[in-house]
Amino acid sequence: MKPQYHLSLCLAILLLLTTQCTPQQFACDKSKSETSQFPFCNSSLTYEDRAKNLVSLLTLKEKVQQLVNTATGIPRLGVPSYEWWGEALHGVSNVGPAVRFNATVPGATSFPAVILSAASFNASLWLKMGQVVSTEARAMYNVGQAGLTYWSPNVNVFRDPRWGRGQETPGEDPLVVSKYAVNYVRGLQEIGDSKNSSSDRLKVSSCCKHYTAYDVDNWKGVDRFHFDAKVTKQDLEDTYQPPFKSCVQEGHVSSVMCSYNRVNGIPTCADPNLLKGVVRDQWGLDGYIVSDCDSIQVYDTAIRYTATPEDAVALALNAGLNMNCGDYLGKYTENAVNMSKVKESVVDQALIYNYIVLMRLGFFDGDPKSQPLGNLGPSDVCTDDHKSLALDAARQGIVLLGNNGALPLSSNATQNLAVIGPNANATNVMISNYAGIPCGYTSPLQGLQEYVSAVTYAPGCSNVKCQDDSLIEPAAKAAAAADVVVVVVGLDQSIEAEGLDRENLTLPGYQEKLVMEVANATKGTVILVVMAAGPVDISFAKSNRKIGGILWVGYPGQAGGDAIAQIIFGDYNPAGRSPFTWYPQQYVDQLPMTDMNMRANATANLPGRTYRFYSGKTVYPFGHGLSYSSFSKFIVSAPSTVLIKKNRNSIHSSHAQAIDVTTVNCKDLHFHVVIGVKNNGPMSGSHVVLIFWKPPSASTAGAPNVELVGFERVDVQKGKTKNVTVGFDVCQGLNLVDTDGQRKLVIGLHTLIVGSPSERQVRHHLNVRLARSASETDLAIM
Ligand SMILES: *[C@@H]1O[C@H](CO)[C@@H](O)[C@H](O)[C@H]1NC(C)=O
Ligand SMILES: *[C@@H]1O[C@H](CO)[C@@H](O)[C@H](O)[C@H]1NC(C)=O
Ligand SMILES: *[C@@H]1O[C@H](CO)[C@@H](O)[C@H](O)[C@H]1NC(C)=O
Ligand SMILES: *[C@@H]1O[C@H](CO)[C@@H](O)[C@H](O)[C@H]1NC(C)=O
Ligand SMILES: *[C@@H]1O[C@H](CO)[C@@H](O)[C@H](O)[C@H]1NC(C)=O
Ligand SMILES: *[C@@H]1O[C@H](CO)[C@@H](O)[C@H](O)[C@H]1NC(C)=O
Ligand SMILES: *[C@@H]1O[C@H](CO)[C@@H](O)[C@H](O)[C@H]1NC(C)=O
Ligand SMILES: *[C@@H]1O[C@H](CO)[C@@H](O)[C@H](O)[C@H]1NC(C)=O
Ligand SMILES: *[C@@H]1O[C@H](CO)[C@@H](O)[C@H](O)[C@H]1NC(C)=O
Ligand SMILES: *[C@@H]1O[C@H](CO)[C@@H](O)[C@H](O)[C@H]1NC(C)=O
Ligand SMILES: *[C@@H]1O[C@H](CO)[C@@H](O)[C@H](O)[C@H]1NC(C)=O
Repeated sequence: MKPQYHLSLCLAILLLLTTQCTPQQFACDKSKSETSQFPFCNSSLTYEDRAKNLVSLLTLKEKVQQLVNTATGIPRLGVPSYEWWGEALHGVSNVGPAVRFNATVPGATSFPAVILSAASFNASLWLKMGQVVSTEARAMYNVGQAGLTYWSPNVNVFRDPRWGRGQETPGEDPLVVSKYAVNYVRGLQEIGDSKNSSSDRLKVSSCCKHYTAYDVDNWKGVDRFHFDAKVTKQDLEDTYQPPFKSCVQEGHVSSVMCSYNRVNGIPTCADPNLLKGVVRDQWGLDGYIVSDCDSIQVYDTAIRYTATPEDAVALALNAGLNMNCGDYLGKYTENAVNMSKVKESVVDQALIYNYIVLMRLGFFDGDPKSQPLGNLGPSDVCTDDHKSLALDAARQGIVLLGNNGALPLSSNATQNLAVIGPNANATNVMISNYAGIPCGYTSPLQGLQEYVSAVTYAPGCSNVKCQDDSLIEPAAKAAAAADVVVVVVGLDQSIEAEGLDRENLTLPGYQEKLVMEVANATKGTVILVVMAAGPVDISFAKSNRKIGGILWVGYPGQAGGDAIAQIIFGDYNPAGRSPFTWYPQQYVDQLPMTDMNMRANATANLPGRTYRFYSGKTVYPFGHGLSYSSFSKFIVSAPSTVLIKKNRNSIHSSHAQAIDVTTVNCKDLHFHVVIGVKNNGPMSGSHVVLIFWKPPSASTAGAPNVELVGFERVDVQKGKTKNVTVGFDVCQGLNLVDTDGQRKLVIGLHTLIVGSPSERQVRHHLNVRLARSASETDLAIM
């Protein structure tokens, strides 16, 4: 079974939409007295009371038709149909059926694939992108071209370099993924002054997916519908769950989507512990839980987890699922209630959660034109500001992987430029998946043509698969006649995609041969540009003297070509850092993609995953990224001691080396580290300060090598120094998870390491110890 579910459903919905299109966009039309008088339309009441009132007016038959993404609505109550499925991963997208472009709004701002924006390590950029996307979404809603609920972002940790959907994620580090998620979600959801926490109004509703331990799409015959992820408690707690927990608790996301796969035998959408237990009760989700498209049908029919469709829907609803992307809940819930497999009150509660979200969005407040965001319209989409933010996001993310001094190029000294490679004139490749229609494109070729008038273009391969080497010779000829060659190689959706994982980390087909022959042919310098989401083993290029500079550009969005050209010609000083580890090709032979263990295991001969647990050879490490300037860093201030005090009623065992976080008085365990960053020149620019933490040696089984505990991107003029302040919460940040999934504070000498492994690092030691008595000192941090 392939992702047909998804496709057939899309088609069905599209057919439906084209026949009975453009429903009314709101309920409680004030001009219709017969329907606007209901208590659910009364904005003086609480959302919950309004939602309860609405549900109380529905028959069971009506209720079940509202549990699915294409909700029929209740015409007799003036509640129109509503399409819940929208996507806005890096711009308003028409992948979900709720969004349609036409001549009124023909396109929306298309930011880089998330993996590249993540590489900026700039939380305020992530927030701002979310704000732009929600403004454009609202503008499109106001003219009937979009809904208000968006199933974005994807916050799965990019734990394996082969994953086809790595492009959608903020990379391999749980902290980076969490911070990205919190900021993007807030950008989508919050209205105006984000400090007004008393308001639970939503600009648009965001959804964190795919919960949880997802991330096998289709690898050597194992697909996501059949995949049973075997996950340890330790990995679940410190790798797979943190982004979702942050989404709910810090980002206040209004929806979580459960995935297709099973976790330790149980489909996530049927797991009462994962849904009701953790997301709803433990984390306190204020919103709805939705299934991935057809997840319920998938576990019913593809793996026969349940005996009947009625069992399948009852299981999901009882587990805490509130909405079904698909049609199973609509088709089988009525009968499941009749058969007493699920109580009608469970259906009611699901609907209440769903309706509260629509109420927070203003859907039940009458005509949106008379509401605060009602003045947004087509002129607020693809504005100059939005387009320049798309360009800036690409520039901020692009990573300078290598430079022997060739970069930046001087446009004066470049007479003849050859632009070569299968992605050299890329357009739609740059906007990755879950894209919409962009405002416009600048391809790398077009961007470079802005700087040099004599440009020759030779694709070298007919596509990224590059299964034929006949175009290499003309490319080598073009290279021979040029002073400088820019080769844009990489991947696209034919190699890494939803439903398609990679088997190899090498460049496909003859691409490597193309680069080598071009380098061999030219008398000038070669700049290698890698346009791909996941890591590619480009060791061959690192060791080639002719290759003077290497850039990773992810999938850089609609303005990608301008961003690439501005960096190559020195109008922008690159500062992006790799959000994942670049493994050598051999890595794929060392562990199957389906093995979910993060930790290395000598017995099982597993090398470990991500910089936290893999200590083998890399092509480039996590956090790697160069600049045209050189920066130095030093500790301005940091505490030397952290004193742990136990809660009064916890059992005192002063000999323990690892103390359960739940027994610690965390109140005063916050501190700041101030780091000085000096730009030694020759260019002004930004610098990303990464702070890793190394726990005391041999602290607990499965402790990470190091772990990122803080980061900050800072702008520093050449010759100047800036102080960067990074805050830490000891109980949240500097703890380890044991094999039972419990968080522990570890006594002993901790180390903070400022800088990635590929730059000069600064170390600071921190002595964490237990207070000898409750009154030892009033200060927890010294
Ligand atoms: C709305 O609810 C408030 C509070 O219960 C009530 O005072 C008011 O009369 C209601 N308005 C309408 C139009 O029913
Ligand atoms: C675009 O779609 C909206 C909503 O269906 C419709 O109101 C509008 O007239 C359409 N614009 C054009 C130019 O067709
Ligand atoms: C906060 O939001 C509420 C509800 O939208 C609004 O009534 C109130 O005026 C806002 N307060 C501030 C300080 O902006
Ligand atoms: C459920 O029971 C009601 C009342 O007996 C009946 O009208 C309805 O047709 C039943 N629904 C299904 C799907 O069997
Ligand atoms: C490039 O040429 C322009 C115009 O001739 C000149 O102003 C500029 O300084 C030159 N730039 C470099 C880097 O040589
Ligand atoms: C580059 O791509 C654009 C957009 O697809 C196309 O119009 C243009 O002709 C291409 N340039 C070359 C030299 O092939
Ligand atoms: C992966 O590489 C191996 C050996 O280099 C090759 O035989 C195989 O065809 C490649 N697989 C894919 C999917 O490219
Ligand atoms: C490099 O070029 C030389 C002559 O121009 C040729 O003999 C050699 O085979 C080439 N090497 C590669 C790897 O293409
Ligand atoms: C390591 O792998 C072995 C063999 O599969 C397994 O028995 C053992 O539990 C694993 N160790 C850890 C710490 O996961
Ligand atoms: C971070 O992004 C924001 C928003 O685009 C931008 O204004 C700021 O300059 C960036 N910060 C740094 C240090 O580059
Ligand atoms: C950084 O902070 C230190 C200590 O507060 C102060 O002495 C120094 O002047 C600051 N440097 C800058 C560039 O602000």
